[in-house]
Amino acid sequence: MLFGVEVLSDATLIGLVQLHGAKPETGIAVLDIYLGEKEYWGKGFATDAVRTACRYGFEKMRLHKITLTVVADNQAAQHVYQKVGFVEEGRLRETFRLGGRWHDTYTMGLLEGELR
Ligand SMILES: CC(C)(COP(=O)(O)OP(=O)(O)OC[C@H]1O[C@@H](n2cnc3c(N)ncnc32)[C@H](O)[C@@H]1OP(=O)(O)O)[C@@H](O)C(=O)NCCC(=O)NCCS
Repeated sequence: MLFGVEVLSDATLIGLVQLHGAKPETGIAVLDIYLGEKEYWGKGFATDAVRTACRYGFEKMRLHKITLTVVADNQAAQHVYQKVGFVEEGRLRETFRLGGRWHDTYTMGLLEGELR
């Protein structure tokens, strides 16, 4: 499932949110979000998009759990995920390479019934 994130007031596409890897046997999918238009950051679009995608996942795809990984330095993204109910489940050491150095990542999870 892939959704575009659009600003309704000016019909601008500012990013994408997806749930991928869902299997009926497990009821688990992985969430990714990317908002490329920086002038729209900090206005609540990611929070709204993540919440909407998760609601779709639980209600329409009948998922049991949604997981994601986030770079440890990405505090804005972690804040968004925590706001909608994701909890940290573990830290993976040096699993993401960016800007010539390795970064730790957190794995986070949201169970059905935990979405806020
Ligand atoms: C991370 C990202 C999804 C956030 O999108 P956004 O639309 O700006 O998010 P929102 O406006 O919904 O919420 C941002 C929240 O983070 C908070 N925040 C911003 N910078 C922060 C920081 N350095 N530390 C902690 N919180 C921070 C904001 O205050 C806001 O919280 P609030 O609503 O409680 O005030 C967006 O910047 C993005 O797509 N970045 C590039 C790709 C990326 O990092 N994707 C996530 C990969 S895991």
